[in-house]
Amino acid sequence: MCGIVGYIGRKQAAPILLDGLSKLEYRGYDSAGMAIYDGTQINIEKSTGRLKVLSELTHDGSTMPGTVGIGHTRWATHGEPSDKNAHPHFNEARSIAVVHNGIIENYMKLKNKLINRGYHFISDTDTEVVAHLLDYYYKKTDGNIIDTITKVMHRVEGSYALGIIFAEHPDKVYALRKDSPLIVGRSDEGNLIASDVPAVLKYTRDVYFIENEEIAVLSEDAIEFFNSDGEPIEKESKTIEWDINAAEKGGYEHFMLKEMYEQPKTVRDTLTPRIKDGKIVIEELGMSEEEIRAINRIHIVACGSAYHTGVTAKYIMEGLARIPVEVDLASEFRYRNPILNKGDLVVIISQSGETADSLAALREAKAQGITTLGIVNVVGSSIAREADRVMYTWAGPEIAVATTKAYSAQLIAHYLLAIYFAQVKGMVTDEEVSEMLTDLKAIPAQIEMLLANKEHIQKIANRYVGAKDVFFIGRGIDYAIGMEGSLKLKEISYVHSEAYAAGELKHGTISLIEEGTLVTAIVTQKELYKKTMSNIVEVRSRGAVVLAVTNEDNTEIEKTADYVIYIPQTNKYFTNSLAIIPLQLFAYYVSVGKGCDVDKPRNLAKSVTVE
Ligand code: M6R
Repeated sequence: MCGIVGYIGRKQAAPILLDGLSKLEYRGYDSAGMAIYDGTQINIEKSTGRLKVLSELTHDGSTMPGTVGIGHTRWATHGEPSDKNAHPHFNEARSIAVVHNGIIENYMKLKNKLINRGYHFISDTDTEVVAHLLDYYYKKTDGNIIDTITKVMHRVEGSYALGIIFAEHPDKVYALRKDSPLIVGRSDEGNLIASDVPAVLKYTRDVYFIENEEIAVLSEDAIEFFNSDGEPIEKESKTIEWDINAAEKGGYEHFMLKEMYEQPKTVRDTLTPRIKDGKIVIEELGMSEEEIRAINRIHIVACGSAYHTGVTAKYIMEGLARIPVEVDLASEFRYRNPILNKGDLVVIISQSGETADSLAALREAKAQGITTLGIVNVVGSSIAREADRVMYTWAGPEIAVATTKAYSAQLIAHYLLAIYFAQVKGMVTDEEVSEMLTDLKAIPAQIEMLLANKEHIQKIANRYVGAKDVFFIGRGIDYAIGMEGSLKLKEISYVHSEAYAAGELKHGTISLIEEGTLVTAIVTQKELYKKTMSNIVEVRSRGAVVLAVTNEDNTEIEKTADYVIYIPQTNKYFTNSLAIIPLQLFAYYVSVGKGCDVDKPRNLAKSVTVE
């Protein structure tokens, strides 16, 4: 999704904006641009392609003097990726420049009205409407900027985080948001706006999270905030605890590889604070034991990989705590008029905490008066702030579009929640809890072991760099693991891949198997071994090559599978945390082998802040 940055201070703005934009590259983009006030006028430079192109165009920013500016990386929604559609956008007099992340849903209606009033449009974007609308109200309010901005805010529908500069007020950067993320950073060297924290971390850890329909006005030495009526409001800054190195590659070739290697730490960090005196305690849940015992049903709602952790969680929560669980894709949940009852708990899972559909699902549940719990990674994100309760996954900043460490942390959060609820409901004995804790504590070292096996997996991956289709099969939790393995592969390597519940093969899927088709079979659930083994035999007899991921005691499988990757022994509910590691590595090496952009796969964005 688009990324916005802005700076006002004593230093030259362009290099700071370029640096900030580079920290937002992970969000996905197809073009980039900057608008900078040079002491006389606003200059814009923009171009399709990577940030490198903009850096070259401006000689690393040196050709753009000025200490006030805004910058943008665009992920096209309205209008193809092109120089003219890249942001920033000007009003006709080139006195107002705008950058935008989000979608102005009523832009057609506004555009027609503005055209009728004599405005001319250059681009095909929804954003250009904002530049002209600002121009219109600026004139109508005799240059009262706060009035202008609130009027625009009331006219536009949809989602936006906007950064604006006015040539007639060159000592200010203006910013506002609704449903798209926006933060303001305060530093001694000047003040900044950005879509996400990593873009400002180099300069400051003091950050304000802008709420919906709030306006921020930044000058060199001050930051003011206003509500949607244009009234001044007070806001408190938060100190970001992240280590700046967490947002850098640190010697790894790709962020994805670095983040895979951070998984042992992530698991430890998510687990350790919630284990006290041999028991699981999730203080941040703020739910009494009676409230937990009264939970009728849990609805897990999320998108993408977060949804896959929800599918795993269903098996575990139902298995351990015997609480019925429904798992929904957020984009479906929000429009299907879900039946939610008193005593239900809605759990929204999100790394970014900004995914538009997940946020909308959360709001839908809250509107129906249902208790909501956010399992979120980004501290202070919209879902974290709006959910009734938050359980953070302590994965730190995740930059690669393909999630790995946040996914692993989400799994741990689900295990903890399931064991905790089972503990409170008396469904597990102290001894069972203690055994599960022992297994949980072993996971980080086991992940390290699996990561150390990377060369073996790289060799297998190299053989499938040219694969047309790859299938993943499994039953129960193994099916959920397959869903994630398949998504990892297709999103970064563009190899077509699907996950199927192994028992479904005969109902159509098996006709896809051809001589040499790779089928990855996940076989970690002992009670389902025999069933999945039959499916492996079936696909092999139709020409498939089978890569099996299984427990270390299941050596029998070597007689049937072409390749075998063993995972160490753990509780049956925790196998996802281990089996996913070779599948992540497999996807990574296929992508590297194909020469794909591993961290920023085509067409994708890290956080999907539009519907
Ligand atoms: O930030 P979120 O966890 O809400 O994001 C949800 C999905 O967009 C995300 O998991 C996506 O599927 C990943 N890129 C997959 O690697």
